[in-house]
Amino acid sequence: MDTEVISQVNDTEDTLYSLESGHEMLDRANPAFSTQEWDNGTFDIQNWLERTAQKRLVDTDYGRKKSILGPSEAVLTDPLLNSVYKMDIATFLTAERISMVNMSKMISFAPDENSQVFLATQSIDEARHYEVFCRRLADIGMTPVQRQDLVKEMTLPKMKQFYDLIDEQVDKKQFVPALLAHNVVLEGMVYPLYRYEIKYWSKLDPALSSIVKNVFADEVQHVSFGEAFIAREAKSGLPMRNKILNLAGEFHQLMNEVFDEVIDHAIGLYQASADMHAEVMADIEIFPGHKMGNLTEEDQTRLLQQEIQSEYQNRLQAIGLG
Ligand SMILES: [Fe+2]
Ligand SMILES: [Fe+2]
Repeated sequence: MDTEVISQVNDTEDTLYSLESGHEMLDRANPAFSTQEWDNGTFDIQNWLERTAQKRLVDTDYGRKKSILGPSEAVLTDPLLNSVYKMDIATFLTAERISMVNMSKMISFAPDENSQVFLATQSIDEARHYEVFCRRLADIGMTPVQRQDLVKEMTLPKMKQFYDLIDEQVDKKQFVPALLAHNVVLEGMVYPLYRYEIKYWSKLDPALSSIVKNVFADEVQHVSFGEAFIAREAKSGLPMRNKILNLAGEFHQLMNEVFDEVIDHAIGLYQASADMHAEVMADIEIFPGHKMGNLTEEDQTRLLQQEIQSEYQNRLQAIGLG
């Protein structure tokens, strides 16, 4: 073999075993899972890692940005404020537990690989939410038993009815009704309560506000998945469209009763403790254009209810039924 031929052979071998050129030949456009009309490509674990674990949650400690402090001493020492704080977190926990348990069960009967993988990310999100709120109550001195008792106490009757409804759909492996009830109606109508918490605690415990902000960002992604999936189902034919429309109406009605019950139970206490700390709370604008110091309990109830109903309309539009 003359030298020219030997050098050609070597060139071929170099090309054949080049990691770089092999890597460039990989086909990222080839879908790993079968194409689903609802899937815009943002629902897989890689996206979750880039958006959540490697970005938003970087430098956090149990959901709190490490640079953000709290709570203020008043949260720990003022009995009314302290009990509102505990009730508030316990109310979140009632829902996070239902979410954690049911979303992980739904992986086993989700109809396609894309949904299964997304629900795995949602399960870890919900478990994280559950953990950070339990941690926060432990951080302020509650024992696990005290926390469990309070969560039980904060699970009001209509709320329990809604959670039972989700449990029932999941136990019967009814994917569409379960997703509609949990990811669209429950998570989608609750946005105004997250906004309320974030603002309400912004001066007294900015750290809790930062925890809730991060939880809220996850919930928005859960709602986006629910809306995209249900919108695709609603387009699949008139019988399914009517079924979804009827279920949405039924779930919405029950959820309204849950909100009435929660607001009725809590708003007076929130108002009273805000009034007692008017020097830091009065200027907060929970509702755009309305300072806390100028609002009555009735105003707050009305504004919250308006926001909740408008969120429901947003959800209906997103699933093509608005
Ligand atoms: Fe959650
Ligand atoms: Fe969620």
